[in-house]
Amino acid sequence: MNPQEAEKRIAQLSQEINHHNTLYYQQSNPEISDFEFDKLLEELIQLETSFPDLLDPDSPSQRVGGTITKDFQTVVHSTRMLSLGNTYSKEELLAFDERVVKGLGHTDYEYFCEMKFDGVAISLIYENGRFVRAVTRGDGYRGDDVTANVRTIRNIPLHIKGEGVPARFEVRGEIFLPLKEFLKINAEREEAGDALLANPRNAASGTLKMQDSSIVAKRRLNCYFYQLLGDEIGVETHSDAISLLEKWEFNVSQTYRKVGNIQEVIQYIEDWKENRFTLPVDTDGVVLKVNNYDQREELGFTAKNPRWAIAYKYKAESAESELLSITYQVGRTGAITPVANLSPVSLAGTTVKRASLHNANEIERLDLHEGDFVFVEKGGEIIPKITAVNPDKRQANAKPISYITHCPECGTELERKESEAKHYCPNAESCPPQVLGRIEHFVHKRAMDIDSMGTERIRALIDQSFISNPADIYELESKKDELLGLEMSQGQYETEGDGLLYITLEKALFALTEQISFRQIHDFLLEQAELPLLETLRAFQEQIRIWKKKTASNVGMVEYLINHLKDHNLPKLEDYVPVAVVLEIFLGRRIAFETILQASKLEGTVHGILLKLNLDLSQEVTDRIKKLKANTFQDGVISNMMEGIAASKNQPFEKVLFALGIRNIGENTAQLLARHFGTIEKLESATSEQLLAINGVGETLVLSIKDFFAQEENREVIRRLKGYGLQFEIEQNDTRQLGNSLEGKRILASGKLVHFKRDEIKDAVIAHGGQYISSVSKNLDFIIEGEDMGPSKKEKAQKLGVPMISEEEFLKIIGTV
Ligand code: IVH
Repeated sequence: MNPQEAEKRIAQLSQEINHHNTLYYQQSNPEISDFEFDKLLEELIQLETSFPDLLDPDSPSQRVGGTITKDFQTVVHSTRMLSLGNTYSKEELLAFDERVVKGLGHTDYEYFCEMKFDGVAISLIYENGRFVRAVTRGDGYRGDDVTANVRTIRNIPLHIKGEGVPARFEVRGEIFLPLKEFLKINAEREEAGDALLANPRNAASGTLKMQDSSIVAKRRLNCYFYQLLGDEIGVETHSDAISLLEKWEFNVSQTYRKVGNIQEVIQYIEDWKENRFTLPVDTDGVVLKVNNYDQREELGFTAKNPRWAIAYKYKAESAESELLSITYQVGRTGAITPVANLSPVSLAGTTVKRASLHNANEIERLDLHEGDFVFVEKGGEIIPKITAVNPDKRQANAKPISYITHCPECGTELERKESEAKHYCPNAESCPPQVLGRIEHFVHKRAMDIDSMGTERIRALIDQSFISNPADIYELESKKDELLGLEMSQGQYETEGDGLLYITLEKALFALTEQISFRQIHDFLLEQAELPLLETLRAFQEQIRIWKKKTASNVGMVEYLINHLKDHNLPKLEDYVPVAVVLEIFLGRRIAFETILQASKLEGTVHGILLKLNLDLSQEVTDRIKKLKANTFQDGVISNMMEGIAASKNQPFEKVLFALGIRNIGENTAQLLARHFGTIEKLESATSEQLLAINGVGETLVLSIKDFFAQEENREVIRRLKGYGLQFEIEQNDTRQLGNSLEGKRILASGKLVHFKRDEIKDAVIAHGGQYISSVSKNLDFIIEGEDMGPSKKEKAQKLGVPMISEEEFLKIIGTV
């Protein structure tokens, strides 16, 4: 490609990318996938790297981040960032309006109504049309300089072109994380076992203060602007200022309305009361501002707030609902979280069926009793909370909720440290969710690399007692036959109180009926989301009559379910039914309900319960019950797993050491220790002095190593793993131990390399005694510069004075050429 062609293509790509950014951020209506978007961006970056002269400072490529900010500089605001007074009622609003009339001496004024966005206030400074600085609100007088992070928000104008752009101006607005992004990030965090972000506002504020702007770039923050400041703006009213912001392509929420009097403000408030839940950002009220700037000046300020603007806060919406039961969830650290199951009520645009109760104190604070009617509210949090109990509706003989004493996952007695609100399950060794975290680490790609063992499979193996520690994995080979048909139970089961097993209503109805597809049932239930369970079942019977599919027997089976549910009166959990009740319909003539019930408190799957009951069942019943089960392990899956497990025995010692999950031993440390000691025995018997003598080993690490080997269970696991043939010493002529030419060096590779793939370069660095670091910082000894190293990374490396070497030079250093 010649420079002319490149210039044309760059212009084309930039335009296309900007267009897609507008669709995504301003209109929430993307036309292409993230993947396709990244492809366009990649092509642009590649062209700009090949033709550095063509790099425009306003190019959309300049938003990918790459700067690290250690300390955010404090910046003084040239105009103080004020807050608004709040009102909560129509009366208070009218009083505000009266004050405005009094202040102006007439009623000839307009109000400008906007939504009050619940994000993080930000001030952007533009000089000569260019974005130069972004500062947080801070204490109103001074805030933090977060320019590098704000620059990554793709729809913030970097350069305002056109006539009459003032030499210096300031725009203020609210940065937020769109609800959809927030949910996505939390889903990913949950999958990775990380703590969840509390709400979109905190998430946005945390993101703005991140040190690495390239992570910020991935988080898709957005911003709504609502204020323009400066000496030479040349507008008389707020509405003109907003038009100007729109013309300059600042993102202005299209929710504003200019009105002539306070009654119309009240109308605006009414109009957005429910509608606001369709917006991509949380809002908690409305801001009304006197539109005319001269009139604003006349009205002036109180000590803290302007007299020309005020916020009206919507009352948090509240609804009343019946407490059906409480589910206790066990996290990967063993922490217990109680969750209230409620009869469905509609609240702030969604149907609410659950509310977090946080911990035992919260239950006590609410003085919660069985069968209570409670008030639920939705604040900034996604999960609604219970604010109070309705005392008038409490049954005279209602029992107070008694908190569980034993872990619902493993039955161990719970503990509660004095200083902590949460109960914990102390059974770290064998409590399923806690074991899960450790096994996931063990099989991880950079550890034992058994990629056929994903979370769901591991969970199934743990739940059904096939594995409880890494060594058990190597015994699966001999249990292949038992694995066939085992259930993988994602989301299909739930337990209540002390462990009573529930199954999703859709699975139950699917098993109970014939000739109706799972999809049909699923769609039907989605539509009925707001009905309580029994009414849903009645509606389903009606639907069966409409479908005319085996009407008599299908309606009859649902009738059984209704009657059995009523008879047993077990705790209720919306969208789920007790497995025991469903099984009773199939097995009731063979065995007492009490026996099924007991088994369903001890076992975590239908498969497990049936094994426990040990009945000889007809083919027909077996087939019907099979419909109740989740996906099961099949031949292909099992042989894949066996292959992965067998191959993992060749992983070198340092990977095995990392896989053991000793606290504070990351990849680099595992490598360092493996190379230093050569065998696990030597590491185990090393004295604290010997350990501390190693460069890079500190007190905390010594303690974790000592602690790990002090536990008999850990030593036993290692003994067994050795027995299965895992590598516990460095191979003498291990190809991975190639030399020490990089001893003590901290290295990063960036861009495309010819001789190495991503992970290979890491291994090569480590194999020659170096340490691989994954981000640009001044601690690096050098960077291996690959073919298309990102321009911003390069710029940063240059700024920090980190030397860059070519791949060829690197090969020379490690003696390969
Ligand atoms: S105007 C002097 N407009 O609310 C008035 N503020 O309590 C300056 N906010 O710090 C603010 N949405 O973070 C204004 N449409 C809106 C707003 C808004 C949210 C926040 C902003 C400000 C706080 C004032």
